[in-house]
Amino acid sequence: MAQLYRSALLRFADDGQALYDQDGLLAVGPDDQGQPRVLAAGSWQALAPRFSNWPVTVLPGRLIAPGFVDMHIHFPQTDVIGSPAEGLLPWLEHYTFPHEARFADPAHAAEVAHFFLGELLRHGVTSALVFASSHPASVDALMREAQGRGMRLIAGKVLQDRHSPEGVRDATEQSLIDTETLIRRWHGVDRLGYAITPRFAPTSSREQLRGAGALAALHPDVWVQSHVAENAGEIAWVRQLFPEARSYLAVYDSVGLMRRRAVYAHCIHLDEDDRALLRERHTAAAVCPTSNLFLGSGFFDYAKAERAGFAHGLASDVGGGTSFSPFATMLAAYCVGREGETKAATTLIPRALWWLHTAGAARALGLDGVIGNLAPGCEADFVVLNPQATPLLARRTRAARSLDELLFALIVLGDDRVVERAVISGKIQHKPAP
Ligand code: GUN
Ligand code: ZN
Repeated sequence: MAQLYRSALLRFADDGQALYDQDGLLAVGPDDQGQPRVLAAGSWQALAPRFSNWPVTVLPGRLIAPGFVDMHIHFPQTDVIGSPAEGLLPWLEHYTFPHEARFADPAHAAEVAHFFLGELLRHGVTSALVFASSHPASVDALMREAQGRGMRLIAGKVLQDRHSPEGVRDATEQSLIDTETLIRRWHGVDRLGYAITPRFAPTSSREQLRGAGALAALHPDVWVQSHVAENAGEIAWVRQLFPEARSYLAVYDSVGLMRRRAVYAHCIHLDEDDRALLRERHTAAAVCPTSNLFLGSGFFDYAKAERAGFAHGLASDVGGGTSFSPFATMLAAYCVGREGETKAATTLIPRALWWLHTAGAARALGLDGVIGNLAPGCEADFVVLNPQATPLLARRTRAARSLDELLFALIVLGDDRVVERAVISGKIQHKPAP
């Protein structure tokens, strides 16, 4: 199981700074419990003498980097990508709910789960925080598939007991019983984690939200995930349904759903009190730029998020999002960042974008030092990237004179063709045919 890799190597320091070795070494081997981990990472010259008898995989011209972490994605929306609508609410009604209703069928759920995880890996995403559908069997299907591939994956059954059509609507009491059963069945099994998953405030009764909050208190190491402040129509609806709440985000806070390991997708239309609340509650935002552009939801403000100091990272939000590719997400984040307060290319430099989709996303999930990086002790999830994957990429990356130029070329021009291998816990899980 012990293995050395020799190639260019990208990783991150604890303070988020990118560390790059043109001639790098990555050593992967079992820890004291026999789990494959990163044992060393850095310059080949400095480290190779420590590993003189180890087998070496030499990858000329390639770049080894941490596997990408997708902080928010819907597996039952794999077939919803590219469904146009005026905005979020009609999109949910006309496309999303009818598609998700099909996940009552376990065979359909299993088929999509298989395809979905294959697609994540093909794009270099080695971990994700995932919405299943409201059907408990959809969680079983996804978890089984992830377990078979050895992935660190977090997922949950959607809770939605009102304002939802037959076929996806669940029943309050049973939905909470099912959630508890699924936590016991899957949370902490191998590398899997569970997330308590109210879809969003408008589709959960107060009773269901309170029940979700009670479960979150009972299981503090389980994740919580939902959506907040995405779209104007949605926000107006929340104001109508919860007139007593100071803000949309405050609805979740009032029922105990803001805490460590809680992750809210979008967080676009927030005020400064909301941003301070995210920081105080150690709650994270999953930023979904391709989805926000596609559904016309708005622009996440990276400068205000930085200033407020709440954790945030990048996510695809497939099927509102338009691509599984972290490169597409990072490029959209860059473009959206230029719409924010700073309107400058300074905050979202390529290294920072890459961090937001790897080590930064892992930190926002409470998994820093575990995934999203290649520091000693991290689990051995990484990608092998080919910066010459297309003629234009080869031409452009050859001319890159700095790490930022190389990463920018990959972000702007890269896609699944760049991802030559995805390695999970030291084992190749994706390698395209030559
Ligand atoms: N809000 C509630 N449900 C959803 C969903 O499935 N996708 C997005 N983007 N927003 C939501
Ligand atoms: Zn979403």
